[in-house]
Amino acid sequence: MTKQEIVKYGDPTLRKVTSRVIKFDKSLRKLVEDLFETMYASDGVGLAAPQIGVSKRILVLDVDYPSKRYIDEQTKKETVAYTPLLLINPVLIHKEGQIISKEGCLSFPNVVIDVIRFKKIIVRYQDLLGKERKLAAEDDLLCRCIQHEIDHLDGKLFVDKTADETQMKRILQEAGLGDIVSPPSPVMIG
Ligand code: CO
Repeated sequence: MTKQEIVKYGDPTLRKVTSRVIKFDKSLRKLVEDLFETMYASDGVGLAAPQIGVSKRILVLDVDYPSKRYIDEQTKKETVAYTPLLLINPVLIHKEGQIISKEGCLSFPNVVIDVIRFKKIIVRYQDLLGKERKLAAEDDLLCRCIQHEIDHLDGKLFVDKTADETQMKRILQEAGLGDIVSPPSPVMIG
């Protein structure tokens, strides 16, 4: 496993619509390992392939990771529990309601803004073997994180879904990202 460099806001890679995974082979497994390695090493709860410069429909998540660190009473060592989740070719097949909550993104260091998301979703995706699966999520970090990462696969970024444009621009400015010119979000047809 190799930790990869995370692509930052302003890089055109983040605005590309990614392509579907067709081959479930050894090179896919290597890429998935690198995604997990990079996400955990960066203390992220989610990471999409374009964020390491690979324009494919793959994302990884572990929404429990930051909150599950605890000290083992016997060994006194910090233990981390992992609940990794891999979604290949994910599609939202159901979405309803609306929630507004704070989000960050590894491609936007030091930026946390209010973002509008669906309250309830069902996602259809493939696992590492290409087997089709479904997952439902409602009103929690997993629900928001899946939407955030799927957006990355469509060249969309969380600043496109801000609940407060003025706040977003101010926070980008404060983080030193205010003058960055990013290509616009691609228009999806169909
Ligand atoms: Co992100």
